[in-house]
Amino acid sequence: MKIVKVKLGKRSYPIYIGVDLSALGPVLTRHCPNTHKTIIVTNELLSELYGEILEKSLKTVGYQVRTILVPDGEKYKTLEQAEKLYQSLLKEKIERFSPIIALGGGVIGDLTGFVSATFLRGLPLVQVPTTLVAQVDSSIGGKVGIDLPEGKNLVGAFYQPTFVWIDLKVLETLALEEMRNGFAEVIKYGIIQEAKFFNYLEMWVSDVGHLSLKFLEEIVYRSCKIKSEIVQKDECERTGLRRILNFGHTLGHVLEALTKYRIYKHGEAVSIGMVGATKIAEKMKLIKKEEAERIVNLLKKVELPTNWPKKYKLEKVYPYLEHDKKVKNGKINFVLPVKIGQVIVRNDVPKKILNKVLK
Ligand SMILES: NC(=O)c1ccc[n+]([C@@H]2O[C@H](COP(=O)([O-])OP(=O)(O)OC[C@H]3O[C@@H](n4cnc5c(N)ncnc54)[C@H](O)[C@@H]3O)[C@@H](O)[C@H]2O)c1
Ligand SMILES: [Zn+2]
Repeated sequence: MKIVKVKLGKRSYPIYIGVDLSALGPVLTRHCPNTHKTIIVTNELLSELYGEILEKSLKTVGYQVRTILVPDGEKYKTLEQAEKLYQSLLKEKIERFSPIIALGGGVIGDLTGFVSATFLRGLPLVQVPTTLVAQVDSSIGGKVGIDLPEGKNLVGAFYQPTFVWIDLKVLETLALEEMRNGFAEVIKYGIIQEAKFFNYLEMWVSDVGHLSLKFLEEIVYRSCKIKSEIVQKDECERTGLRRILNFGHTLGHVLEALTKYRIYKHGEAVSIGMVGATKIAEKMKLIKKEEAERIVNLLKKVELPTNWPKKYKLEKVYPYLEHDKKVKNGKINFVLPVKIGQVIVRNDVPKKILNKVLK
């Protein structure tokens, strides 16, 4: 087992990595005394796979456990589902100290986190992430929220969990494309913050579907450490440091929006976006050609897409870029790599260069 401590003063919490779902009970009693009730929020698939193990672990230490199911998919990360969850919590007579356990990927984590942040002005939240994306990204850092018909993650809060419990064995049942999705964010961490981690991935990453638990533990641990160090310095996205986590996301979000979220998974769009940002940096002479090539090659190695689709030229892209949340005073912010392990934020990318990159 490895532990990453997220240090945020009174809101500090541990991320336990490489633990068993069946061992959660005793740890929960330590973190959340003064209650004998707890709720698991999950979906049908995950409940069938892992619900029983988790419930048993909680009941053994004396908890009264209820499981609430939400339907599977991003389209259910809504206010309507949040309201249904509030009603269920009322029915269960949940009290201020009762922890809510989010068992699932980022969708369940974000939705359950939002409900925990707001119900009775805040219930303890335990994140039990079951996708690689959730283990290395969404369960850490305290961003919780829901989508509106007008856009993703438009309503939310910064609400840190009481702790995060990462059982890596659950990744065995995760679809291959979901694993790849997570790898886009893992590789991102190496590029934005730690060359040594990037080198490690370059050296050891192979067939994403057959990775050893030891290797997974190492990459999840190092990813959690990098993300939590960034979050510690800029918890609520005020100083701008947290912005570097958006590397690859400026163009990535545009691509997702242009294709109406139907063609690319988030990680795939981010992969193409990271290559786009790297090419911009290369054309602006910020990064050496060889380093840029290493970025593209590592993404290819895990079979993530790297080519910007030809049909989306600058004229189509520009309106989306201007609407992006990353625009400030009419200038478009890009996170650009200057070398592996270091990025900068620039708002002066010439249109001419963008035009060349989006070809
Ligand atoms: N809060 C944040 O900081 C943050 C960061 C990144 C992403 N997100 C959000 O996370 C969401 C995406 O999360 P995701 O990529 O985990 O997708 P997801 O939650 O939709 O999960 C993907 C699919 O995998 C299934 N699944 C989950 N765990 C499984 C397992 N162990 N075995 C088999 N199947 C499993 C799910 O049921 C689902 O069908 C988006 O809504 C995004 O906005 C939030
Ligand atoms: Zn992302």
